[in-house]
Amino acid sequence: MAYLNWINPADYTMECFLLFDRWALRVIFSDCSKYAWFPDKQRNYKLELAKALYRYPYVYNYARYKAPECWKFIDGLQSIPGDSWIPDEMRASELFIIKALEIYVVCFFPHIMNTLDFIRDWDEQHLHDLADLTDKLVLDVGAGTGRLTFPAAKKAKRVYASDPSDCMREYLTDRIRRERISNIRVVSGTAENIPYEDDTFDAVISGNVIGSSLNTQLAEITRVTKNGGWLVLCNGDDSYKRPSPAEQFISRGFEWFRHDTKTGGIIYDYRKQVVK
Ligand SMILES: C[S@@+](CC[C@H](N)C(=O)[O-])C[C@H]1O[C@@H](n2cnc3c(N)ncnc32)[C@H](O)[C@@H]1O
Repeated sequence: MAYLNWINPADYTMECFLLFDRWALRVIFSDCSKYAWFPDKQRNYKLELAKALYRYPYVYNYARYKAPECWKFIDGLQSIPGDSWIPDEMRASELFIIKALEIYVVCFFPHIMNTLDFIRDWDEQHLHDLADLTDKLVLDVGAGTGRLTFPAAKKAKRVYASDPSDCMREYLTDRIRRERISNIRVVSGTAENIPYEDDTFDAVISGNVIGSSLNTQLAEITRVTKNGGWLVLCNGDDSYKRPSPAEQFISRGFEWFRHDTKTGGIIYDYRKQVVK
């Protein structure tokens, strides 16, 4: 995958890792260049990460406490000799790592996420066109800063906004309190492990989240949706002209909906009624 250019890495240091939750550290302190989303597979991820973190031993300490399952990988990084690395070289690695991990970095900076085109340029009417959420019990999976949660709550009986990022949940909770909204509950959880019983929701909505472990995630969102309920994948706007709807959703029985964005992009959203 290409760089998304969501952030300017020069605005950050490796200290941003100190905000990261265990679920993110688990990915980052593994050979994450093997994942499809990793943007530059030519670079030696482990070496770059070791160089980037050499001047931040307390970040290693934090990760060891927060995600003990990463000890072995961290031991490997810290065993790489770094005495000959010069500051410019280490900063270059730091910039590379922050850029390569930008999809994780933004998950811990809600105010930065809100400036990104997929939220900034998006119109909530796209969600209402996809699903009538009036009086429904709705779950938003990977709610982030609530691009879908808040519009959904204008119609739904109640919306459960789930996100694994502590920073996102705090952002949501603050906004709900500030705006005195009474029908949104914020919960922790991932698309792979939703903390609700079978057949709980009338609709599960999600945007820019589902895809990394598709079968597991779709099985899980289907499990918590009632018979006759809806799965709604409503993506944000950007300038990318997608050539066609994603086969991975069509082949799994989703209807697709297309719209053009104000920056020239083509977006596909997806919807499927659950039949059990
Ligand atoms: C790109 S943002 C999208 C946020 C929001 N749905 C939107 O469209 O504006 C991805 C969000 O999913 C969360 N996330 C990351 N991995 C996840 C997973 N496996 N399951 C659920 N949420 C996840 C992140 O913390 C982040 O808030």
